[in-house]
Amino acid sequence: MTRVLMCPPDHYDLRYEINAWMHLENRPHLPLAARQWRMLYEQVQRLAQVELVSPAPECPDMVFTANAGLMVGEKAVLLSRFRHPERQPEEPHFRRWFEEHGYTVYTVPEDCPFEGEGDILWAGERYVAGYRKRTEICAHRVAAEYLGREVLSLELVDDRWYHLDTALFVLNERTVVYYPGAFDPYARRVIEEHFHTLYVIEEEAMRFACNSVVIGNTVLMPEGCPLVTGLLERKGYEVIPIPMSEFIKSGGACKCLVMFLER
Ligand code: ARG
Repeated sequence: MTRVLMCPPDHYDLRYEINAWMHLENRPHLPLAARQWRMLYEQVQRLAQVELVSPAPECPDMVFTANAGLMVGEKAVLLSRFRHPERQPEEPHFRRWFEEHGYTVYTVPEDCPFEGEGDILWAGERYVAGYRKRTEICAHRVAAEYLGREVLSLELVDDRWYHLDTALFVLNERTVVYYPGAFDPYARRVIEEHFHTLYVIEEEAMRFACNSVVIGNTVLMPEGCPLVTGLLERKGYEVIPIPMSEFIKSGGACKCLVMFLER
């Protein structure tokens, strides 16, 4: 049974600007955000066991649990080391949750920013990882060592797609869905050489189509992405659209709100 980690949005808010989507004058409507989170939570719960970490009042972005870390073994996690000081206060809260739940917690070196599953995604035999915006390539090396797997490093080149999971998702071990404009030409070549690919157009990438959660045959996707939905449905996937407007204001959507603990 798939197991994931989520964080209730009790203290979610927009209190600083650390990516191209965040604007203090465009704060989320918090009751609506709570309803959107709940919708996602209920859908995930149908497909997986959901663990919850308690939100901390001083961490308005802690809902984005994909950035807590990356599972590197059955009961081992590589904890994130946030690039921005604004999110660093989340680290001890996530650490405590993992420790209390029996996980061994590993860390990356101090000068090596790493934002967890936001930037490294499981892709069957190997992992795909983004760098330059948040996570640095030094963290890919550390992750590869703990994982004992190949990690394909992909350079992100557009500030709107600042975490790998904003620009790419893994549909199955052989197939990724991605927005090419977020990657440098060499990264695109690496993706094309290793996977079957489905493309997302810019307009749908801007609605966070790539920030989808895949569990089995179901894809939980931010609403408003009809083209990629059609592609997936023709391949036999069930796509469930989820309204995510209030989280997109912070630069996140479905996948950012979910961290995989077990597949
Ligand atoms: N406001 C958060 C940040 O900028 C959003 C994080 C989104 N998470 C993700 N996995 N893409 O850090």
